[in-house]
Amino acid sequence: MAEIAVMGLGTVGTGVVKIISDNAGIISKKLGEPLQVRTILVRRFRDGPYRHLCTDDFSKIENDPAIRVVVETIGGVDAAYEYTRRCLEAGKHVVTANKQLIAERGCELLELARKKNIKYLFEASVGGGIPILHPMLECLAANRIDEVYGILNGTTNYILTRMVRTGAFFSDALREAQRRGYAEADPTADVDGIDAGRKICVLGDLAFGHQIDPESVPMEGISKLSLRDVKIANRAGYRIKLLGRALRLGPENGFESGSRTAYVAPHLIPESMPIANVEDVFNAIVVRGNAVGEVMFYGRGAGEMPTASACVSDVMECLSSWGEAPLWSPDVSGFENPLKLRCRHYFRIEGSLTDAAMAFGQVEVLSEDGETAFLTEPVTGLDAKKRAEKLNVLSCLRVLS
Ligand code: HSE
Repeated sequence: MAEIAVMGLGTVGTGVVKIISDNAGIISKKLGEPLQVRTILVRRFRDGPYRHLCTDDFSKIENDPAIRVVVETIGGVDAAYEYTRRCLEAGKHVVTANKQLIAERGCELLELARKKNIKYLFEASVGGGIPILHPMLECLAANRIDEVYGILNGTTNYILTRMVRTGAFFSDALREAQRRGYAEADPTADVDGIDAGRKICVLGDLAFGHQIDPESVPMEGISKLSLRDVKIANRAGYRIKLLGRALRLGPENGFESGSRTAYVAPHLIPESMPIANVEDVFNAIVVRGNAVGEVMFYGRGAGEMPTASACVSDVMECLSSWGEAPLWSPDVSGFENPLKLRCRHYFRIEGSLTDAAMAFGQVEVLSEDGETAFLTEPVTGLDAKKRAEKLNVLSCLRVLS
């Protein structure tokens, strides 16, 4: 019998306990022994089917030699960091869906797990139920990863889809995402691009082998996005999606060898690209390797059972001999400002085509009716900002190509 503890009985923690019970037969067959939840750490006791397993005393987990794996679904950094560190110190494997903790302290906790010869796994921290971290590290191991980008936040993709498809108001769509268990405890982390930012840091850390400091990653969400831009973009054959992007940079694109960048921002995406048509709570992550080219991973990016699916699979890996340990260097040097990247930009200005052409030279007009919406030729973000200084800019978005 393999016994585990779950810390935090919110959306994901509850899903973990449910999967272990619902899929007991399958899990036991694959592991060669039954898997059982022995203890659940909660802040407040509530009635329910798992009440008899609950404690508010962390030492009951830390000091229990029967507990081999601990699933941390507390979220945030403070208590989650402290308990994770102590579980690893106590020689227990830890599994988490906590992207904030991995993005901020993952490097240090992974080093501790390595020293203790145990596992610290976090497949559920990016893309919910989508297998992405293991495939990137293992199945794509023969590649140099040059870029990772994707729709990394289920809540905002759900909101955008509802607004565009059914004309729902932002606040109603957000409330529905919260009701479905997609949103963070503080949904501004979703809406302002911070959740996607943490996830792109984790992906970049693993892809490039160096810590990406979340503090240096520009994160822009969907709160400033206007439905008018979404409609103009749709008519012109583009979809607007919130993307996280991490890129390896080098002399071939005018940067120092070994440098890298990452950011989160809404983008116009040509509708012919598969990622443009990813809707609702679904996420999609594209990995570009120098041998394989582009590979896209797609599935449910948030919600109780998809996220718990990734957690429980990680628990099973801890109890078996599968898998490679993820690790990266704490060295954050070589991070470049993503505004130095060149791409086409979408602008909507209060002004005419002549104003647009004076600032940017050749442009492609998308709409002209008092306001002018247009696409520029590829320019860096810094250059775009400078050229637009004299314009009355209503919106500015990057175009993915
Ligand atoms: N709030 C997150 C999202 C949950 O909407 O994607 C999954 O990480």
